[in-house]
Amino acid sequence: MAAELQQENKLAKLIGNFLVSRLSLADLQHLAAKKKVPVHKHSLWYYMGGITMIYFAVQVVTGILLMVYYVPEINAAHASILKINSQIDFGWFIRSLHSWGSTLMILSAAVHLFSSFFMRAYRQPREITWWAGLVLMILCLAFGFTGYLLPWDDLSFFATKVGLDITAKAPLVGGLLGPLLKGGNMISQATISRFFGIHVAILPLTLISLLAVHLMLVQSHGMSEPAAFADTPPEKRRYEPFFPDFFFKDMLVWILALNVLFVLVVLFPWGVGPEANPFAPAPIGIKPEWYFLGAFQFLKLIPPMVGPIEGELFGILAMSLVGLGFLIMPFIDNGSQRRRALLATIYGVAVVLGLIFLSIWGALS
Ligand code: HEM
Repeated sequence: MAAELQQENKLAKLIGNFLVSRLSLADLQHLAAKKKVPVHKHSLWYYMGGITMIYFAVQVVTGILLMVYYVPEINAAHASILKINSQIDFGWFIRSLHSWGSTLMILSAAVHLFSSFFMRAYRQPREITWWAGLVLMILCLAFGFTGYLLPWDDLSFFATKVGLDITAKAPLVGGLLGPLLKGGNMISQATISRFFGIHVAILPLTLISLLAVHLMLVQSHGMSEPAAFADTPPEKRRYEPFFPDFFFKDMLVWILALNVLFVLVVLFPWGVGPEANPFAPAPIGIKPEWYFLGAFQFLKLIPPMVGPIEGELFGILAMSLVGLGFLIMPFIDNGSQRRRALLATIYGVAVVLGLIFLSIWGALS
């Protein structure tokens, strides 16, 4: 028995050495061994990026499977979704994984954004990691927006129409982006073709490339340390190696995250509404997906004209200014003054509370 074990160990070592040398993994091994993760009472937030990543992996796998049966044509899209939901073995399961997965991915990316913000991970030297993250968040929302139209049911059709009308009014880019996405004056075959291409090719390629940069930077800078932790004497600071300690905990958290997804999928399988009729009036009380509800409600509150500016344009400008705050935060709060740090916290809390409040209001009204 002992001899057999020794033999197996030898074989494993041999294969390990072969892979390390042939794939030039030594640099990667060195990088993984070098990285240490700070241990403190806010360490929990270090798992949020990984959770977002595992949900993204689910989206890629289930998205490829859905492509086998989905037909991106206005006369066949809805029927292909009905077929996936009721005739293809486990089709409902794969589709629900993809739909619930999108919700959980956007939610975890948003929690990751705000937790990185409150940990002040945007400060030097992580500015580019932060900006890459902001673009990743926009890409996640773009995935949600383009995917929502694809089932071609009445809700998805009219919500997309509202979204595209708002996009067309955006300053600078709206005039170009609106017609470019729509592919004409109204939502048609051209729109579904464009949304499908963006959803299954342009967005995944862009997100994967940017994610590679994001992760490379995280790996080379190491995890940020909250001020209270960085200010404690070195002998009292605790770290754990990224590999294997943190990595194995990461995997455990991924299993938990996948369980949350499976429970939602099994208890609340994703439905499909009646087929879209572009010539019918919009259903009353139409609302976008939850992640656009805050912005939607905000725009609804603004009067048709604000001084000389059209209300919707004013609203979009106001929201762009809030976004700009996140973009320039590394310059405003660079760690040099406590006053600026306080300002950043107030800003972050105001945005989170505002978003939650407007989203709940939007959902209830
Ligand atoms: C597809 C979306 C995203 C994925 C898959 C992702 C993935 C990750 C991972 C795995 C980490 C390392 C572990 C962690 O700190 O959680 C990380 C770190 C980081 N992410 Fe993201 N991220 C995404 C979006 C974002 C967004 C939206 C932001 C904010 C604008 C952001 C900003 C950061 C920052 C600043 C760090 C460094 C954290 C630190 O050093 O404490 N990421 N990301």
